[in-house]
Amino acid sequence: MQRILVRGGGPLSGRVAISGAKNSVLKLMAATVLAEGTFTIRNVPDITDVRLMAELLEAMGCTATLDGDVLTIVRPAEITPEAPYELVEAMRASIVVLGPLLARVGRARVSLPGGDDFGQRPIDMHLDGLRRLGADLTFEHGYIEGRAERLRGTRIVLEYPSVGATENVLMAAVLAEGTTVIENAAKEPELADLAAFLNRMGATIIGAGSSTVTVDGVEHLHPVDHAVIPDRLEAATFLTGLAVAGGELVLEQARPEHMDMLMHKMGDMGLRTSAHPDGVWAAAPERIRAVDINSLPYPGIATDYLPLMVAALSVADGPSIATENIFGGRFRYVDELVRMGADIRVEHHYALIRGVPRLSGAPVKAHDIRAGAAIAMAALGADGETVIADAQHVARGYDRFVEKMRSIGADMDAD
Ligand code: EPU
Repeated sequence: MQRILVRGGGPLSGRVAISGAKNSVLKLMAATVLAEGTFTIRNVPDITDVRLMAELLEAMGCTATLDGDVLTIVRPAEITPEAPYELVEAMRASIVVLGPLLARVGRARVSLPGGDDFGQRPIDMHLDGLRRLGADLTFEHGYIEGRAERLRGTRIVLEYPSVGATENVLMAAVLAEGTTVIENAAKEPELADLAAFLNRMGATIIGAGSSTVTVDGVEHLHPVDHAVIPDRLEAATFLTGLAVAGGELVLEQARPEHMDMLMHKMGDMGLRTSAHPDGVWAAAPERIRAVDINSLPYPGIATDYLPLMVAALSVADGPSIATENIFGGRFRYVDELVRMGADIRVEHHYALIRGVPRLSGAPVKAHDIRAGAAIAMAALGADGETVIADAQHVARGYDRFVEKMRSIGADMDAD
């Protein structure tokens, strides 16, 4: 998918099924390094990032086969504990193989991820946590060279509740000797899903989803069969489309308990949302109201929601301020919205959005996954056609994006 073409039009309606969460399944796939045998992961989204993580596992010697939404991973007795530059460069999330490789193989050679469209993205907390567990990490030629005898449990206080650092440390601690306590841990539902997966594999983790996670190390883990939690970011995307285009939707399989703050803010914007026996029901007002939003670690408004919400607020009645607290450089999509007639000014990590009645379709670019999706949602309410270039970013994180949008009434194509 190179381009997405969107023609603004009528309201959205009907039902759409939410796929499995990208930011969960990628970590579950990394966790398969921890045990020999055959894993079955269900509710897997068919997205580029899953294929990239499958490629990484295959480069290590595993096999990964996606059949519909069922992913089978066979992890042989011996693997090559290496994540090459090409794959880490294509997908930063590859860094989460470092912890499990050190814990299970005792060696790892993982390319250092660089910066990306959000600006600098350090991994110091991942490395610090792994070192505290006893790993010896050095850097050579752009690679992290890691070695570890058996890791040893300890108390690790994270400077910030980083999702990736919590996951890397957690996946290392499950096979460490003794008890590890992670303080100021990330609380995201995807982290809790990873802990559930690991516990099913035989790990002993208590408190995942809260800021203190306690892990009693075990000697051995085994393969499992597990279904991925639904993607709250995909659900947020459909809610944003609804906010812009109007209408009424049922988001099948969406979990309202994973989206409390989002539903609350969407409520302030005038959307009606409620839990539904099949997921989440939502209906849009005539025109949404302006609200101020701040991105924060879970259970706050996710940084990944912000581009989507800014896109919707660009046609709200009144001015809003959006504050990005997680990634300093994450406002590049604003220039694209401005090309579509949005009135948004960015100062440092704030965006001042003065809602306009309507945007106008224009040729624009997707800089990353959420930016592309946000622009596509904004385009639903624009006059004329919007052509989104670099749409391959959207395919990295959204399963059948255009097909699903069309099924609920959006006038969208891809080529
Ligand atoms: N940070 C550090 N040092 C570290 C780790 C993180 O300074 O060692 C900083 C980051 O630079 C950032 C903040 O801490 O300012 C948060 O980063 P975090 O580690 O929580 O993010 P991540 O694990 O790299 C995941 C998601 C992102 C999502 C963030 C925040 C995956 C694959 N990615 O990234 O999702 O934005 O958490 O919730 O899980 C997306 O899905 O499009 C996406 C970018």
